[in-house]
Amino acid sequence: MAAKTILITGGAGFIGSHVVRLFVQKYSDYQIVNLDNLTYAGNLGNLSDIESSPNYTFLKGDITDQSFLQQLFATYQFHGVIHLAAESHVDRSISSPMEFVLTNVVGTVNLLNAAKEHVKSGKPFDRFYHVSTDEVYGSLHDDGFFTEETAYDPQSPYSASKASSDHFVRAYHNTYKLPVVISNCSNNYGPNQFPEKLIPLFINNIKHKKPLPVYGKGENIRDWLYVVDHARAIDVVYHKGALGETYNIGGHNEWTNIALIKVLCKIMDVKLGQSPGSSEQLISYVTDRAGHDFRYAIDATKIQNELGWTPSLQFEEGIEKTINWYLENECWLTQVTSGAYLNYYKQQYSK
Ligand code: NAD
Ligand code: DAU
Repeated sequence: MAAKTILITGGAGFIGSHVVRLFVQKYSDYQIVNLDNLTYAGNLGNLSDIESSPNYTFLKGDITDQSFLQQLFATYQFHGVIHLAAESHVDRSISSPMEFVLTNVVGTVNLLNAAKEHVKSGKPFDRFYHVSTDEVYGSLHDDGFFTEETAYDPQSPYSASKASSDHFVRAYHNTYKLPVVISNCSNNYGPNQFPEKLIPLFINNIKHKKPLPVYGKGENIRDWLYVVDHARAIDVVYHKGALGETYNIGGHNEWTNIALIKVLCKIMDVKLGQSPGSSEQLISYVTDRAGHDFRYAIDATKIQNELGWTPSLQFEEGIEKTINWYLENECWLTQVTSGAYLNYYKQQYSK
């Protein structure tokens, strides 16, 4: 019998799949239950290497369905929850905000309720870990960093929905004494990211010699972290983070979009055996994202000093690994960029 049963939501998505793999492989005495509704962003192919592990179970289900969650918690004696399921793409939140309210806000409150009832019935429960984003802090100018004390100032429907879910998690801790922990992370990159996000989208477009749609002047800044390092941080926060606390996670790795895109172009030219500068010719400046946050940058001192986590990978190594993965996993890319993806692409980039 497994010593602990942990519910991971959104485990078929980008970050969730790396977290599920880490926990399944590292903790053979844990039973990992992956709950995912398999939206366009969820893909069981992300977990094909561990799907037959004895300590892993996949369940298809929707966190907006309260009665389903109540039954789930009655069936499994969860000792902990790591909550990643969400609508995660800013551009989609601009065109369909209500889906973000439903999954990110209502879905999170449903899960909190299920966990609260579980605790109330006297079952042993270690913690509810809510995985959130640095976007809740809003947008920085040229200087400064987001700390755990930075006031919330979400600017997009996506970040507003994540900020709201963070507030609910803290409210359940304060009001019902639910044991919770939260982390807010910067931009992730790496294998298995859906190619609507900047890095996989541009790798795929360069491969197919399609235009590279740079929003505005490409001067916006993001702080990039390799996804496996985020999964390692989640492991540390889940096991060692103090209850009721928040931990910022980031890569100390800021890039303007255009500088990052030029790095991608340069590496891709080499990989594709093209002459230098070929991919850069695909760069196409397009209308800016509405309300586009200028800069995100995380101060990760707290998690470093209190929990001993630091990123393990330099960006040069991470981006090389990432590009290699997308080039070696042609089938994965082809599968996720067929069907509904084509409609999304047309709608998003023909404005
Ligand atoms: P993703 O979009 O790749 O994956 C989300 C997963 O949630 C998918 O597998 C999807 O099927 C599932 N899901 C969506 N709605 C659901 C529902 N109603 N019920 C059950 N499952 C549902 O997202 P990601 O990039 O892996 O992000 C995971 C989490 O980490 C999110 O909460 C996001 O806000 C947060 N985060 C992401 C980043 C980033 O750079 N990607 C950075 C910081 C924090
Ligand atoms: O900071 C953490 C957040 O990072 C996560 O919470 C989100 O889930 C995740 O999607 C990501 O949000 P961003 O909006 O920063 O990521 P995205 O990859 O969509 O865009 C990165 C930057 O690139 C941003 O400044 C917008 C720009 N961009 C993006 C796309 C898709 C373009 O210039 N062109 C594009 O086509």
